[in-house]
Amino acid sequence: MARQPFIAGNWKMHKTVAEAEAFVQGLLPRIYDADHCDVALCTPFTALQAVVDSTRGSRIEVYAQNMHHEAQGAFTGEVSAPMLTELDVHGVVLGHSERRQLFGETDKALQLKVPAALDAGLQVILCVGETEEEREAGDTERRLRHQVDEGLEKVPTERLGDVVIAYEPIWAIGTGQVATPEQAQEACAFVRALVGQRSKEEADRGRVLYGGSVKPDNAAELLGLPDVDGALVGGASLDVEQFEALVNAAKG
Ligand code: PGA
Repeated sequence: MARQPFIAGNWKMHKTVAEAEAFVQGLLPRIYDADHCDVALCTPFTALQAVVDSTRGSRIEVYAQNMHHEAQGAFTGEVSAPMLTELDVHGVVLGHSERRQLFGETDKALQLKVPAALDAGLQVILCVGETEEEREAGDTERRLRHQVDEGLEKVPTERLGDVVIAYEPIWAIGTGQVATPEQAQEACAFVRALVGQRSKEEADRGRVLYGGSVKPDNAAELLGLPDVDGALVGGASLDVEQFEALVNAAKG
């Protein structure tokens, strides 16, 4: 089965509502006929409604960058799946390394968040990836296995392929130090194989993205790899021209 390429821009803590709307107005005419790939913008919570409204009827999907697994409760500062779906948000990024490293996100929490998001009708991008020390110590596969197995543990087998997994080596995020095509292919194939241990069919259906310093000048090579179905992009997603170039690079 051919997997539709997927380019997702992760804005992190960038763009006010006014800046987000200006970006969308700039992007829409540039990618209106880009039906070769799925396109998502993962915006701060505060910009979700504005970006949902300004992209309605277009091919751009809107994702949040985190959510709590409970639907409601005494969790100050958190946002739940029903709060996102009420806004017509399409999906959510879960387990980004910045959330894991800076905000104490655990694999145990992700075990609850991933199925909660799917149950609510949200699409999920689950992020996994090793540190530089883990790669140097030969621990990359052990780390990925742990993150993928834990994150997907409570996902029913027939829904595994609905979870997009983003392989993002931490040493490549925001550093300009992109993984080599060999490293990206090897790790993304390994991630797919981990899903395949539960269901070959779901592993073939599910999309695996690469993330970490993806730019217009390296995107085509990465996106051409057999097990890389798209990219999760930070820095280069903040600029309309660069983001358009990434969407075009997915044409293959
Ligand atoms: P980057 O970020 O493209 O700026 O390296 C990627 C990410 O964190 O998703």
